[in-house]
Amino acid sequence: MALNYDLVILGGGTGGYVTAIRAAQLGLKTAIVEKQKLGGTCLHKGCIPTKALLKSADVYQQVKNAANFGVDTSVPTFNIDQAMARMENVVSSLHQGVEHLVSSNKIDVYEGFGRILGPSIFSPIAGSISVEYEEERENDILVSKNVIIATGSSPTVLPDMEIDHTKTITSDDLVEMTELPKSVIIVGGGVIGLEWASFLHDVGVEVTILEAQDQILSAFDHDIVKRLKQILKKKGITILEQAKVDPSSIEKGSEIQVTYQQRNEMHNISAEKLLIAVGRHANTKKIGIENTDIQLDQKGFIQVNEHFQTKENHIYAIGDVNGGLQLAHVATYEGKKAVEHIAGLRSSQISEQEIPSCIYGNPEIAMIGFTEQEVKLKGYDYRVEKVSLQAIGKAHVNGHTDGFTKIIINKQTNDILGIHMIGDHVTELIGQASVAKYFDGSALELSEVIYPHPSLSEIIGEAALAADGRKIHG
Ligand code: NAI
Repeated sequence: MALNYDLVILGGGTGGYVTAIRAAQLGLKTAIVEKQKLGGTCLHKGCIPTKALLKSADVYQQVKNAANFGVDTSVPTFNIDQAMARMENVVSSLHQGVEHLVSSNKIDVYEGFGRILGPSIFSPIAGSISVEYEEERENDILVSKNVIIATGSSPTVLPDMEIDHTKTITSDDLVEMTELPKSVIIVGGGVIGLEWASFLHDVGVEVTILEAQDQILSAFDHDIVKRLKQILKKKGITILEQAKVDPSSIEKGSEIQVTYQQRNEMHNISAEKLLIAVGRHANTKKIGIENTDIQLDQKGFIQVNEHFQTKENHIYAIGDVNGGLQLAHVATYEGKKAVEHIAGLRSSQISEQEIPSCIYGNPEIAMIGFTEQEVKLKGYDYRVEKVSLQAIGKAHVNGHTDGFTKIIINKQTNDILGIHMIGDHVTELIGQASVAKYFDGSALELSEVIYPHPSLSEIIGEAALAADGRKIHG
């Protein structure tokens, strides 16, 4: 017998479960189909576990430097078992919270693999979804007026390369590590590569990053990346750019050996493990795309319109699977907008320029809006100001003065085009810039806000003052 819904969501990751809760608030009878655990990549393999591990690395570094603050400690050591156990506790308590939220919103959860079967034989205006189970059990058939695909993404590997999960690994393997390797080569100097490089280095692993492009983090502001590289190199991380790995060269012995090409020269390098962090691809396999008119782009992401609708009006796709920014906060935003569209609500849309992006290593990086290289390309008449953390009293109190905030404004309108930050706690501070961008704030308005003193937040006010020609500190 078919089970009827207003909305079935394929995938109960952060995008999927938040979307389901919004749908329930709007009175839609909603089900989630999830093959693993509610919370998905963000909660179990990505955002939360990596940040929990980075916090452990941060505490380790702070204790190592505690003598500077007048705190005497014996020689600290890093215990990976305890760090992993803490990480698992953090994940597990959040997971319980998500399960509670979903059940208290009366959302049905089917713990199986969801596949779109196409238009329903039970109803001309609805689609059918089969839920397939690992154990010997008959499939469930769901009939739903609307479907949201929120199946996320998986790590991409190099062409013709097999990951053995022991010597060659992805970020998914690292969140299950039982011991620290002595050395790791990271292929890919993107967000994942950089966060893992920071963690591994800070807990004593020798790290080399191989990046194929001219520079690591090519989508970030080049000034920020330049400073990041200086800090990471000073710490002892090796960063090799324009270094393209030849996957056929990978040899596994007691160590793993790799050949890379850098500016027409071939080099060999070896380490205990090889982490592949070269992007993530959409999870669209076996979910029944072929039974629909849904179109994929050249990279395999589901094509959607401004309401996140696919070519099938009643099927939406949100989060990593649709080829937009691969960020958990983007997935939840898109899910809420898709559901509001289904419910016939007219809700405002935000632009990519209002979405913050963060890297949670040591140092942290945060940005919103255009980078300077983008502003140049677009031909804006712009002005740039930078304020160093050296100008901020609280940064001295905290003992972390390395970093700066860069503001880019439109010279004609005084509007904020971009804010780029590097340093201590900037992933928290960028939220203020998000608010300013959302309200279409100008540098003048941002400079008039009263920031508590002493606090790191003052750096935003100082940057805005500088952009408005009224710099006080720095
Ligand atoms: P990415 O696209 O950010 O970076 C991949 C890097 O690998 C690129 O710089 C690329 O040039 C390089 N690369 C590709 N092929 C290569 C080769 N053969 N040899 C050397 N380098 C090569 O992808 P990443 O880091 O895997 O992250 C995936 C997504 O997950 C991103 O969109 C990211 O924003 C998101 N994410 C966000 C986080 C956050 O918000 N803090 C944390 C983790 C991931």
